Amino acid sequence: MTTSHPHIALPPLIAHRGLSAHAPENTLAAVKAAHEAGFQWVELDVQLLGDGTPVIWHDATLKRCSDGHGRLATLDLAMVRKLDVGAWFGDGFRGERMATLSEMLDLLVSLEMGVNMELKVSSRRSGTELAEAVIPRLLEALPAERLIVSSFDQPALRQARAIADASLLPIGVLSESVPNKWQSRCEALDAYSIHTDWTRLTARRAREIKAAGYRLLCYTPNDPAAFASRWSWGVDSAISDDPGLYADIAPPPTTAVR
Ligand code: G3P
Ligand code: MG
Repeated sequence: MTTSHPHIALPPLIAHRGLSAHAPENTLAAVKAAHEAGFQWVELDVQLLGDGTPVIWHDATLKRCSDGHGRLATLDLAMVRKLDVGAWFGDGFRGERMATLSEMLDLLVSLEMGVNMELKVSSRRSGTELAEAVIPRLLEALPAERLIVSSFDQPALRQARAIADASLLPIGVLSESVPNKWQSRCEALDAYSIHTDWTRLTARRAREIKAAGYRLLCYTPNDPAAFASRWSWGVDSAISDDPGLYADIAPPPTTAVR
């Protein structure tokens, strides 16, 4: 692996989809809530509307997190602007609108926050196209020290790396369980980190990853007691819906820079 990655002060706790246990996920409100609760990094999902606008959204459809229906791939910005994406979560969030990537980046910049931006590629959509639309905007808005781009989608990550080298763009390789070929995959992408489902991670694999010099992030542990042993495995960050739960079971301090 190279040593050209930026020095990120990666925190032990990252708010998943913003502070999604306390505000509607992937909204400006959820990021503001994370900041107000003292969390400086968030994980967010980005994908494209049918008109090519990048928006902060997890699902391929609107149903779960809005008052509308339909697939993002068939919608344009004017259509999604009419949706309420907060009321499903609670009356206090009524009137929240779907955030464009541009709006979200403005907020992250103003709050001086870091982001693990997941390129979310739903079935039948192009990861390459998503990366082409999103990566230049991320690079323009945020310093490399406050940015990780992650994805389950290999074409998206390959395109991201083709756009920017490791000194400008830290890449996180996402997988539900870490595959046997994890190291060659990371090397091909000059990756910064591996992100995996914490319930599928083994101590042995965690130690291999750390010994090779990669950062190790886990999603989505919401039970600090159940997760506690993983810190000693070398996990750098827990990406949690409710990172405030960890107050009583303190993770290690911010990991040293590489
Ligand atoms: O980036 C970690 C995690 O968010 C991946 O899963 O489905 O919550 O986007 P998902
Ligand atoms: Mg995600």
